[in-house]
Amino acid sequence: MDKLLIEGGRRLSGEVAMSGAKNAALPILCASLLTAEPVHFTNVPHLNDISTMLRLLGDMGVGVTMEGADGLVLNGGGLNNPVASYEMVKTMRASILVLGPLVARGGEARVSLPGGCAIGARPVDQHIKGLQAMGAEVTVEQGYVHAKAIRLKGARICTDMVTVTGTENLMMAACLAEGETIIENAAREPEVVDLANCLISMGARISGAGTDIIRIQGVDKLHGATHAIMPDRIETGTYLCAAAVTGGDIRLLKTSAAYLDTVVDKLLDAGCDITVERDAIRLVAPPRLKAVSLRTAPYPAFPTDMQAQFMAINCIADGVATIRETIFENRFMHVNELMRLGANIQIEGNNAIVRGIDRLEGAMVMATDLRASASLVIAGLVAEGETVIDRIYHLDRGYERIEEKLAKLGAAVRRMH
Ligand code: UD1
Repeated sequence: MDKLLIEGGRRLSGEVAMSGAKNAALPILCASLLTAEPVHFTNVPHLNDISTMLRLLGDMGVGVTMEGADGLVLNGGGLNNPVASYEMVKTMRASILVLGPLVARGGEARVSLPGGCAIGARPVDQHIKGLQAMGAEVTVEQGYVHAKAIRLKGARICTDMVTVTGTENLMMAACLAEGETIIENAAREPEVVDLANCLISMGARISGAGTDIIRIQGVDKLHGATHAIMPDRIETGTYLCAAAVTGGDIRLLKTSAAYLDTVVDKLLDAGCDITVERDAIRLVAPPRLKAVSLRTAPYPAFPTDMQAQFMAINCIADGVATIRETIFENRFMHVNELMRLGANIQIEGNNAIVRGIDRLEGAMVMATDLRASASLVIAGLVAEGETVIDRIYHLDRGYERIEEKLAKLGAAVRRMH
């Protein structure tokens, strides 16, 4: 199992390009299931989660062809096996995103239930409820969701809570349903909008993506298209935090601050100087950051996927920060690991109180989930001495060539096999 070895204390500086967004690419690749024509994608990130999704789609009969450095062509013409096995879904929860498109196009899907997850229970009841409202017959047997429908029918669906992949699954299913579907309480995440834009270029009739009411007029079929995946706002935010904590000065390329308002605001509050360009962001950090409190909530509020990284920067900031997690019930697993580096953090229910200290000290730590791993990297970059992060397969799920990109910015980072 690979480990990451970080020699802390180097100031990050220079430029590096950001990759396409994992959380946009995963649903968008599933959109290829909705048509028998080839769909071309660019700016696809090289990540383990993307490879897992391509294996899953390939198993179903979708043709997968690489095109250039970050391009892909998916051809759903040969779709013949509408099954997502437990083996696939257990490694990547986002596999549930095949459910809606499969039922909509082929009338049937068998998808394993995701089961438990390190950061919380994460059920898929809303995905199922929505498909049932569209007329699908859904049974759950032996750990599999089995959904069937001759043709889905448009429906009015109001999800009990804001769910990102739930909204995406139902939006994709509704594209080929008969009549109009209205999704209320829809997720407003930029990745939902990117998916909607891809579906629209495939011939779907969607309005309202990016608001909490999405309307979809079903069509008989979708066609091939070309779509560039949006930049990864969470990768971007993570590198901004890494620069902020090391007193750095970096410019991130091929990205946008457009979807990072709350993250940029918090970094400004922490004392950073940020310049926003059309396709780039520059951050210049102060000698010491100020503590910043935050509360996670669905977009456009502060993203839960940036909570752990801000926990790390608060560990050595000046002052006390309260971090409140409202999306997932068990998303503080990085706390114990950060404390191994010397951090002073106290958990009270879904609040973490972080008292900033002057220095962290390198240690052996263990990555527990994707964003928790990112917080350990950030802490390792500023800790004195050597930090070794174990189980970095979590990082490889969501950060493309992280050690290479950090090294380009001057960090002393090495992967050990
Ligand atoms: C997506 C993101 C993930 C991010 C999360 C919240 C992808 C591939 N993943 O995950 O990185 O952390 O949004 O921004 O885009 N819930 C239910 N029933 C459901 C669906 C959700 O109870 O049917 C609950 C979940 O347990 C959670 C909350 O709703 O507490 C939000 O989850 P959701 O938005 O669905 O997260 P994901 O789409 O899985």
